[in-house]
Amino acid sequence: MKGNTMTNPSSTKGPSNRSFLALLALTATLLITACDDGHDARPSLTLRELADQRGILIGAAARPGLIANEAEYARILAAEFNSITAENDMKWKATEPKHKTYTWNNADAVAAFATAYGQTVRGHTLVWANEFQFQVIPDYVRNAVDVATMQQYIDDHIEAVVTRYADVVDRWDVINEPLETLGPGVDQNVITATLGEAWMLRAFQQARALDPTADLYVNESLTTLLPAKHAGLLALVKRLIDAGAPIDGVGLQAHYLGGQVPAALQSVMEDWQALGLKVAVTELDIATAGGDLQSHATGYASVFATCLAVSACVEVTSWGFTDRHTWLNDFIGPESTPLLFNEDYQPKPAYTAVAETLAGD
Ligand code: XIL
Repeated sequence: MKGNTMTNPSSTKGPSNRSFLALLALTATLLITACDDGHDARPSLTLRELADQRGILIGAAARPGLIANEAEYARILAAEFNSITAENDMKWKATEPKHKTYTWNNADAVAAFATAYGQTVRGHTLVWANEFQFQVIPDYVRNAVDVATMQQYIDDHIEAVVTRYADVVDRWDVINEPLETLGPGVDQNVITATLGEAWMLRAFQQARALDPTADLYVNESLTTLLPAKHAGLLALVKRLIDAGAPIDGVGLQAHYLGGQVPAALQSVMEDWQALGLKVAVTELDIATAGGDLQSHATGYASVFATCLAVSACVEVTSWGFTDRHTWLNDFIGPESTPLLFNEDYQPKPAYTAVAETLAGD
């Protein structure tokens, strides 16, 4: 049986029940009095509410260990965002470190949280083969004995993950970082060197067949900073679509430095729009220049304003939401302070700037 009726005031008779009701009445009176002070009593809206009103997704990358262990982390994640991306826990090594050996707990926890709070999930990512920064390919895939076996591993992985999360994930980064990090060519990682671009086409076709309602994306880094890389991605996506790949959108990672958002963001989005594709900012963070929170705020506001200005832009997801827990603490250091909330979970000027942008102020 759940709970203890002895401690449930509504089931308790006599004086203690009356004092509970009196306390409720007093609380209500205090609340009404607090609102009736001549000021606008309208509570300020959360970013989530504002984004809902504008019809865009506002997301954050999240870690299940923090959801479980830091109440303030979970509270803000639920209140301020209408979408979640698992920062690491839906990746190949996290979900299938060995062939057909699945470790779903962490990914399930992210999915369950999103479901509980009515959030959408961006699935990140089915196949990420560029190993410029991180060892992302499971060893068994890297060491596949022949071409057919490697393709089978990819097929099996996509089938298992897409099937498991078909009810929760409404868009997938099917392929992450297909290009060379500094572009414009297709990255010749072990998977692409072995299978050619054909594996990419097959991955999209398979994902579509397994979950026909999910939007399917290519996600890439640095395309708003490197025009040649953007051109390279346009060429690859056109080739894949011409070959029959069901691609719905393109993700712009948007890891920015020095408080600067590249001027090309809007024209890059418009190039994808011109192809009839959706575009999403999938991994936004803006490392501050010497802790300058004003240019940081201006940068965040401009990303949201640009998304609102381009009808194909459906989403802005930041890569975390609190400076307390950002991958940049490991890669740059604590001075990067790239996110919307500080290390004590207080909203930063960027939070207010995004709220004002979404509100249309
Ligand atoms: C990063 C995570 O934030 C780190 O915690 C992890 O150690 C490595 O991966 N591009 C991507 C993301 O597509 O998956 C990466 O996430 C950051 C760069």
